[in-house]
Amino acid sequence: MNLISIRDLDKKEIEKILDLSEEMAAGKIKRKYDKILATLFFEPSTRTRLSFQAAALRLGMSYLDFSPETSSLKKGETFTDTIKVISGYADVLVIRHPKEGTARLAGDAIEKPVINGGDGGNQHPTQTLIDLFTIRKTKGKISNLNVSLLGDLKHARTMQSLVYALAMFGAKITLISPKGLELDPTLIKEVEEKFDAKIKTKSELSFNDADVLYVCRIQEERFADPYEAKRIKEQFMLKSEHLKNTKKDLVILSPLPKINEISHEIDANNKAKYFEQAHYGVPVRMAIIDYLLGRQTRN
Ligand code: NCD
Repeated sequence: MNLISIRDLDKKEIEKILDLSEEMAAGKIKRKYDKILATLFFEPSTRTRLSFQAAALRLGMSYLDFSPETSSLKKGETFTDTIKVISGYADVLVIRHPKEGTARLAGDAIEKPVINGGDGGNQHPTQTLIDLFTIRKTKGKISNLNVSLLGDLKHARTMQSLVYALAMFGAKITLISPKGLELDPTLIKEVEEKFDAKIKTKSELSFNDADVLYVCRIQEERFADPYEAKRIKEQFMLKSEHLKNTKKDLVILSPLPKINEISHEIDANNKAKYFEQAHYGVPVRMAIIDYLLGRQTRN
């Protein structure tokens, strides 16, 4: 009943949500819910918070937006007490928190479905569903595609969820990150064992065989040393020159925001699909809400 980690879904369930997203995007599903969604964001957000709220409105729902700064948390109320109370006001909760494991804690503490809108550097499963949807939509498939993942693979929760899902769907993954920001080897080992995943690592910014290039930001807020983050940020940027010998139908994606990681002129390149990807946030999140609430009523 919760969506905390991408591991909570198997391939069949993901395919079902992607198909449902397709129908949502085409305006085919006219289901309306007399329900309330609560968004509880303890970290900044534009896309996840607003697209969940837009998705709720499009499903005929209302939403409550909890603001930690003006809540009784400031008086010293605990997180668990807070969400227990809010679970009596809403039917489904979306939680983003800087601490890994918080969404799981919330899901265990209350009866209502909890959706993880990102917990620290751990997981961001709904972003991954948007990523898979965008890949399927732009490339027609996911399996056997060459997908290059570029950026802060150590701290980006989007990457932790995405690597797992891409491996599950049989994509061929290449990892490229600044030194010291490599993907956790435990995750690589997990997907190699579970899905027989093909994962390569390289250091140069060349994407000649890539079908998809997915870029994530240097996650400055998760660095122990802010000077180190600044140093890496200043050196790290995808520029038009890196795209020179790439395939004609390469698709460039990003969960956004992009700060300096993608040079602005790339926005005008027709390979860049990240704004389209951000817009798919609404139909995909409609499908996620519908899937969780629908499953709840069927059970
Ligand atoms: C991501 C996040 O919050 O993890 N943003 C998003 O939800 N689209 C990516 C990021 O902040 O870099």
